[in-house]
Amino acid sequence: MDDLAILGGKKTREIPFPKHPMIGEEEKKQILEVLDSGNLSTFVAAPGENFLGGKKIREFEDKFATKFGTNFAVAFNSASSALHAAVVAVGVNPGDEVIVPSYTFTSTATSALMHNAIPTFCDIKEDTYCLDPIKLSSVYSNLSKAIIPVHLFGHACDMDEIMAFAKEKNLKVIEDCAQSPGGIYKDGYLGTIGDCGVFSFQETKNMTTGEGGMLITNDENIATIARMVRNHGEMIEPTQKSRSYVSEFLGWGYRMTELEAALGIAQLSKLDYFNSERIKLAEYLSSEINKIDGLKHVKYDFVKHVYYVFAFSFNEEKIGVSRNKFCESLNAEGIPCGAGYVKPLYMNPLYLEKRSFAFKHYTGKFEYYKGLCPVTEKLHEEKVVTIAIVRPPATIDDMNDIVIAIKKILDNKEKLQT
Ligand SMILES: Cc1ncc(COP(=O)(O)O)c(C=O)c1O
Repeated sequence: MDDLAILGGKKTREIPFPKHPMIGEEEKKQILEVLDSGNLSTFVAAPGENFLGGKKIREFEDKFATKFGTNFAVAFNSASSALHAAVVAVGVNPGDEVIVPSYTFTSTATSALMHNAIPTFCDIKEDTYCLDPIKLSSVYSNLSKAIIPVHLFGHACDMDEIMAFAKEKNLKVIEDCAQSPGGIYKDGYLGTIGDCGVFSFQETKNMTTGEGGMLITNDENIATIARMVRNHGEMIEPTQKSRSYVSEFLGWGYRMTELEAALGIAQLSKLDYFNSERIKLAEYLSSEINKIDGLKHVKYDFVKHVYYVFAFSFNEEKIGVSRNKFCESLNAEGIPCGAGYVKPLYMNPLYLEKRSFAFKHYTGKFEYYKGLCPVTEKLHEEKVVTIAIVRPPATIDDMNDIVIAIKKILDNKEKLQT
């Protein structure tokens, strides 16, 4: 057992971690109801229907809005589509800048490019890996129109500071909650603090519809424009009896299906349970990891973290082994983990070589280059370790295997240097 698996020893964990997502009888019943109804979309309005979607879509949207206490919820076929719609709906114009964190999934930033607006990247905090509000003023310019804070891995951004900055500079705030449904900052649900919030239901997320997304807002104008972007820019009048095919502006086919909405209804009813299981597993792992000198997991007291991913920092100087070697060894022990997350987005050719039409007419000065966000680069290259299997139906015993494997590697770290 003592020989490290990476050096030919026996693995700590031979069997795979439990499969995610959890699909139960409720999901099956919901899906069968849709199949039996024969209505798989209902956005293509039959006489008497308007363009707000089918029965399940509207039920899912109503339940989602009720859960988060907002006036409106608008379902999409992905969070990426919802983010694009949000950028349009809050009033960003082509050529404007949208401030986004440097450490996030691609579509937080490409949602701006899709509208020919320019993402400007703001560095992140060492402890939570979320956008650092202190750095906002260095990214801001008179072209800035919106900020998209991302509650990364399920931990809330510093929303008080971000909202104060947005108010001072008259910026709109789109919360990217793809990784944080049910997360809380102080006393507010994530997604309800800014002008609108966007969620993802892609398969790995805390709740899933296979693929899917949702935008929530209290602003009727944002909801209306988001619905139009979702449906080819077509106007929706509650009294409208048949489809007009009149596009008021550029939209696209971003509609969710009835099957996805049906899954969403069942999954939403379990979201609190899924999150509480994630929290239980993560708190156990966090307490064990924080006992080890050189490893650190941080959660702020006033935040409900919903642990889409369990991430922690690895201190190479203290431990004397590189983060990459540690992650390779942990994977070899049968514990899937990542060395970092997505590389800083501005390091992609899309930005370095400005491979988007949006840049052609851009009059601002923002540039993309290695070194732009030094905290992100250091965290990504040397420090961050990500573990995605901290989720039900995994158990504390499964978490214990992670702890045993980490301790085994650190107890044998000298062998990794030869
Ligand atoms: C932070 C963030 N934003 C946006 C998205 C896009 O979500 P979707 O896959 O539903 O388009 C993701 C997906 O992983 C994400 O993690």
